[in-house]
Amino acid sequence: MINIAILGYGTVGSGVFEVIRTNQEIIDRNAKDELRIKYVLDLRNFPGDPVEEVLTHDFETILQDAEVKIVVEVMGGLKPAYDFVKRALQNGKSVCTSNKELVAAHGPELLRIAAENRVSFLFEASCGGGIPIIRPLQTSLTADRIEEISGILNGTTNYILTKMKTEGLQFEEALKLAQENGFAERDPSADIEGGDACRKIAILSSLAFGKTLDFKDIPTEGIAGITHKDIEMAEALGYAVKLIATCSEVEGELHAAVAPMLIKRDHPFFAVDGVFNAILVRGNMLGVTMYYGRGAGKYPTASAVVSDVIAAAGSLQETIPIRWKEEKLALSDNADWVRGYYIRAERNVEEIVSQAKKLFGGVERTVEGEAGIGLITAPISEKDFEEAYAKLSGAVNRIRVMYTRERN
Ligand code: HSE
Repeated sequence: MINIAILGYGTVGSGVFEVIRTNQEIIDRNAKDELRIKYVLDLRNFPGDPVEEVLTHDFETILQDAEVKIVVEVMGGLKPAYDFVKRALQNGKSVCTSNKELVAAHGPELLRIAAENRVSFLFEASCGGGIPIIRPLQTSLTADRIEEISGILNGTTNYILTKMKTEGLQFEEALKLAQENGFAERDPSADIEGGDACRKIAILSSLAFGKTLDFKDIPTEGIAGITHKDIEMAEALGYAVKLIATCSEVEGELHAAVAPMLIKRDHPFFAVDGVFNAILVRGNMLGVTMYYGRGAGKYPTASAVVSDVIAAAGSLQETIPIRWKEEKLALSDNADWVRGYYIRAERNVEEIVSQAKKLFGGVERTVEGEAGIGLITAPISEKDFEEAYAKLSGAVNRIRVMYTRERN
């Protein structure tokens, strides 16, 4: 029998509890042993809930119990998660977590501590909810030099943008729905302002490129500036608006960003709607692969956590290796990053188009509707775009267009 402890009985913690109880037989078969939840740590009481039998309010009980071999950390945040995880690893317990904040801030250090103590530190659920991506990066995509990793990595914002488009909901109504469904973070600004996606792309890029991409180095913009009119105009131009997190190598330079972007109809991200997430990985030999699934929510996230528990249970005597060096990954300035831009203007249609042609070196597409005019510029560097945009009179919004390599 392998005893585990779950830290936190919130959305994901209670999901882990239920996944193990519901699929006990198949999980035990895959783990080749019986997994038993010995403790669940939470400050609260849950009268009448089956968790009562194993509930504790004291982390020290778990830490000092040598029978506990695997700790599941699903509290979120850094305090006290960082301290608890570190001490669990130092006490010879493997840790499986869904906590992207913790992994983005302390991933390589916690991997080193795990290796020093011959245990594992696993975090499949930290990026893309239930989508298997961390393990494929470690075990399947190993023959390639990775040139790009990009994703729709936040279920809440993708859900909001989708509901704004398909059901004409206002931003606040769609956010409320996402919160009611348990997709949003406790503080939804982490979703809306891009901080959540930023941490996830930092983790994925660190794994894809092997060195640490500090999330604080990634230029990040959220979706607060996107209006219903932009979504409609983008649609008329043949694009969808998505919050994109991306890190890619272009002519030897590594660029990263989190920002709302226009996605062309023929891009694989175009049809990724609702709470679904997708991660695209481009290798120099493999070309493009894409991983798709539910990026948030109780059961998908819990399922990914439990898959890590099963992996840890099968490797109790040795560390499961994850390639991620503490050395920092250097990013190039995005001022030189070239892409097209969408611009929306409400008045002076003819003048805007003629000005834009001169200022941006060309206009690739235009569409006129009740909401004014929308246009897509020719590819231009971020720096040149911003300088030109400042000179354009009458524009009300602009959004980047997702850069796509010819060879997909
Ligand atoms: N708030 C996150 C999201 C939860 O919406 O994607 C999963 O990390």
